[in-house]
Amino acid sequence: MAASITLFLISIFMLLLSLLLLPIPCHSADPDPLQDFCIADLRGALSLNGFPCKPTSKVTSDDFVYSGLMNEGNTSNYLGSFLNVANIFAFPGLNTLGVSMTRIDIAVGGVTNPHWHARATECGVLIRGKALLGIITSRNVVYARNISVGEMYVVPRGLLHYHLNVGEEPVLAFSAANSQLPGTIYIAQNLFGSTPSVPDQVLAKAFQLDQSVVDQIKSKFVG
Ligand SMILES: *[C@@H]1O[C@H](CO)[C@@H](O)[C@H](O)[C@H]1NC(C)=O
Ligand SMILES: *[C@@H]1O[C@H](CO)[C@@H](O)[C@H](O)[C@H]1NC(C)=O
Repeated sequence: MAASITLFLISIFMLLLSLLLLPIPCHSADPDPLQDFCIADLRGALSLNGFPCKPTSKVTSDDFVYSGLMNEGNTSNYLGSFLNVANIFAFPGLNTLGVSMTRIDIAVGGVTNPHWHARATECGVLIRGKALLGIITSRNVVYARNISVGEMYVVPRGLLHYHLNVGEEPVLAFSAANSQLPGTIYIAQNLFGSTPSVPDQVLAKAFQLDQSVVDQIKSKFVG
């Protein structure tokens, strides 16, 4: 009897111990790299999940630096903003590393097109100006907050969000994403500017609009 109780207690102890030793699951958005670096060969003919690596003999210091975010974006467009995205296509050095960066310039009164990232959480820091950041949850709740210089924000993966310049000077922010290719989806273009186009009946019903209004909206996204 005593022996079986002892056995029982030992097995409970072993079970608890094994639970404690189980690694806590923790996943980054992109898979972890298996080597120091893998500078993307964007012209590689292989088709795989990601990009093949440039031969190490051809890798230089320049492969680890991207200069494309230095200049202010041209915000002379209907949104009054420009997102300069340094993803894997712009900066092959990001390949397999699970990160990317975007420079956000927003003119006074301008907005970033409401969008979401299919594969990444975004976090950013405001460098200049004042911006209202709005995040819309899957339950249609908006969390909106004015962000000041030096403040950091986070947008959870997959949530729709926008920035509005509410200050008196151009906004500059830098945002990072935990994916080399975050899968950014601009909701307006996605619905009204896709190819081939989403049928008018679908959009008319979804937005409770006349089809003529749908056509009018679609015409703005042509080209
Ligand atoms: C900014 O974009 C507008 C509209 O495309 C263009 O007319 C203008 O020349 C651009 N400005 C600069 C400095 O490139
Ligand atoms: C953000 O700032 C603007 C301009 O100062 C103000 O009108 C607005 O009410 C603020 N919004 C929030 C959510 O605090």
